Amino acid sequence: MTSRETRWPETLGIVLAAGKGTRMKSKRPKVLHPLLGRPMVEYALRAVEQALGSKPVLVIGHQAEVVRNALGPDRAHYVYQDPPMGTGDAVRRALEAIPVDQIQTVIVTNGDMPLLRAETLQALLQAHRAHLGPITLLTVIRPESQGFGRVIRDADGRVLAIVEEAHATPEQRAIRELNVGVYAFDARWLVTNLPRLPLSPKGEYYLTDTIALAVQQGLEVRALPMDDPTEALGVNTRGQLARAARAMQQRILERWMQAGVTFIDPDRTYVEDTVTLGQDTVVWPDSYLIGKTVIGEESDIGPNTYIRDSRVGDRCRIFASVIEEAVVEDDVDIGPYSHLRKGAHLARGVHMGNFGEVKNAYLGPGVKMGHFSYIGDATIEEGVNIGAGTITCNYDGERKHPTYIGAHAFIGSDTMLVAPIRIGEGARTGAGAVVTKDVPPYTLAVGVPARVIRRLPRPKPSEPLE
Ligand code: UD1
Ligand code: CA
Repeated sequence: MTSRETRWPETLGIVLAAGKGTRMKSKRPKVLHPLLGRPMVEYALRAVEQALGSKPVLVIGHQAEVVRNALGPDRAHYVYQDPPMGTGDAVRRALEAIPVDQIQTVIVTNGDMPLLRAETLQALLQAHRAHLGPITLLTVIRPESQGFGRVIRDADGRVLAIVEEAHATPEQRAIRELNVGVYAFDARWLVTNLPRLPLSPKGEYYLTDTIALAVQQGLEVRALPMDDPTEALGVNTRGQLARAARAMQQRILERWMQAGVTFIDPDRTYVEDTVTLGQDTVVWPDSYLIGKTVIGEESDIGPNTYIRDSRVGDRCRIFASVIEEAVVEDDVDIGPYSHLRKGAHLARGVHMGNFGEVKNAYLGPGVKMGHFSYIGDATIEEGVNIGAGTITCNYDGERKHPTYIGAHAFIGSDTMLVAPIRIGEGARTGAGAVVTKDVPPYTLAVGVPARVIRRLPRPKPSEPLE
């Protein structure tokens, strides 16, 4: 990881993620468990990156290669800690792998604390710069301990030590000020003192023991209690994962509500933080907005809707439907029970009703497709009416073939369009037609296989097509 050319920042961020995560009871490394669509550790990496403006070090050990492959080789400066011998050992490994002479301050956070904000890390850094001691740590005051270490202070409120729950006396256990596991250290002091950490009764080197060490040296340790205790939610179990996801979800929805979006029931709405929503859009319950999805203004989404990696315009109504990798322009209504798949593009004013499926196809402005249709690999021009049950037979068992339907054509109910096929502008097909040959503009084709039986009047140039 540490090539000689790497320029190391003045303040280095280290994210610890080498632990086993045993309590997740999972084959997957704990820090890769997704929280609203992203691996948990991504949040920690991003917070550090945002706060410090530089790439963090990520300490990995248990299933290290799985973690590294999932995140990508450039996502962090990876340091290996194998076997994991405690948080103190983890930081020591990181600092051994890095030329620390350029570094003044080290920020340490946990890979399993996804709600921690960049602003909070910045506040920690500021508090650290405001005193001469070698350590500043974040604390949280909470009724339930989550198994966190307790912050021991003297009568004057000076921090003396952190005691792990497992080693705490009953009086210490009653302390409600908890160690968050997020610290700012003077780099030089840390490098000198990590080798002096005692071995804990559990056979680990605890980073938390640096505090007592500094105090013994007559140096000051400051603790900064956090404003928002939810930021300190740690994830060690599936229950905590669910609670962290819910808190993260609330945070995302709150941001959109402040921007003018309505959620009918925020507790039953899933919106990933990569999604954007326009003003006065209303999201109904049991809707899932995922990935790079963009929703415009004044649209109604849901109930029971799933939209992934898609763009939806203004004033759309999407009801009980699934939209994946598709584009929906303004004033479109879809559903209930329709499915847009990859490459579907519905132009402005399209009406797509019940039980429709569109894949890799363009439906021009004002196209109507009300009931039970499949349109794949097709270009449908403006104003076409697609009768109930119309199917593009686009697959011959070996290859996919295209369908083209000219403007204002009228496709009768239950028409089978055997591709490759072209239906001319203004043409009609009769109900139940099986169309195997191109239909010229302004003609009517019927039957099985369909044949042209009549010419249709062309609209006069002045006559509006509608
Ligand atoms: C740690 C703190 C505790 C604090 C809590 C907050 C210590 C000894 N205790 O306890 O005071 O309240 O965090 O979350 O530090 N890790 C490694 N290598 C290791 C061990 C752990 O990288 O050898 C990583 C883990 O993957 C995890 C983080 O360090 O991301 C914290 O380790 P964990 O075992 O969860 O520590 P806690 O017992 O929660
Ligand atoms: Ca933990």
